[in-house]
Amino acid sequence: MWGTIANLVQALPAETAHKIAVKSLRAGLAPVPDTVLLPVSCSGLSFDNPLGLAAGFDKNAECYDGAFRLGFGAVEVGTITPQPQPGNPRPRVFRLPDDKAVINRYGFNSKGMSYAAGQLAPRKQDGRSPGILGVNIGANKLSQDKVQDYYSTAKKLAEYADYLTVNLSSPNTPGLRDLQHEDALVRTLDAVFQGCRDARVSLPVFVKLAPDLSEEELCRTLDWASGRAVNGFVLTNTTIARPDSLKSTAKGEAGGLSGAPLTHKSLSMLACAARHLDDSGLTDMALIGVGGIANGRQAYARILAGADLIQLYTSLSLNGPYAAHHVLTGLRACLTADGLTSLAEAKGQIKKADAAEAHAEHVWKIASAQ
Ligand SMILES: Cc1cc2nc3c(=O)[nH]c(=O)nc-3n(C[C@H](O)[C@H](O)[C@H](O)COP(=O)(O)O)c2cc1C
Repeated sequence: MWGTIANLVQALPAETAHKIAVKSLRAGLAPVPDTVLLPVSCSGLSFDNPLGLAAGFDKNAECYDGAFRLGFGAVEVGTITPQPQPGNPRPRVFRLPDDKAVINRYGFNSKGMSYAAGQLAPRKQDGRSPGILGVNIGANKLSQDKVQDYYSTAKKLAEYADYLTVNLSSPNTPGLRDLQHEDALVRTLDAVFQGCRDARVSLPVFVKLAPDLSEEELCRTLDWASGRAVNGFVLTNTTIARPDSLKSTAKGEAGGLSGAPLTHKSLSMLACAARHLDDSGLTDMALIGVGGIANGRQAYARILAGADLIQLYTSLSLNGPYAAHHVLTGLRACLTADGLTSLAEAKGQIKKADAAEAHAEHVWKIASAQ
């Protein structure tokens, strides 16, 4: 039945389908797949499994409980801006069915941080949660002081979060990605930590980066951010690149591309970051791999390349409510076929992206033959 409903929703415009999905999850109208336990610890937090729902799906913290029920070990809500803002004119989300991809230029449509705080307050009062909740923060499009925006959102929302993600990599807010570089990066991160201190909250802070940084830029950004005591990096956001392989009619739309065409690029960035952090002796820095993960072997490749955690968004929107369960059962099968009993044993075993991909593919063949 859920397959039929998912197919019907796919026939609707992408943003309408997204709205229906958020409303259904909020109302508890979604399947509840069997739990897949693959426990992992990261930055002092304990996750039931390593797979999180990436930012952008639950932009206003309206359906995180429903998302946990789909099997995610973590849900990252946001991006949340200080003031409410409408985002870009519609249409602003496009499916690329022939490429298993999406292009979006939502532009941080957000109901603002006060609304999000109201949505998150019951979870805080309960004191219990089915999973780890991350809050992804950003800046308003028309803000005169984007650094101050990060201070305000961190101060307002830190008390409701298990971790914060500082989103410096959306391609749809002019000037935002410039904050990934040196002086602006340092000022932004200092503002976030000041916001947390002013809220009297201490929690892990991750930085989300773009796949369009060169390797050299990535390493420099990792160095600068590590120097400001961040706990890890989310790699990656959507890309502004348009690979020649794209076939769908919507491929020329402006915005960030996600899904299958991003898989290898995100994996390469992650592998590069893992090697660089290792070489720099920064082995306690967390790495969260995201971008085009749609099955267990792609998830496994990310772990082999050095990820502590993984996330997905596009495969949920294209494949429906069993997407998380599908990835997790596949990941578990890969671990078993490799004779491993925990994710920690697999983490960083193969730090070269191509080799990790090939190994995961090989292991998957063994797992599926069993
Ligand atoms: C429609 C859409 C909206 C998104 N909005 C956000 C956002 O608000 N903040 C953010 O950090 N990332 C956002 N992302 C990026 C995702 O969190 C993720 O980094 C990216 O899509 C790659 O993962 P995927 O291929 O599994 O989707 C969005 C992605 C999509 C497809």
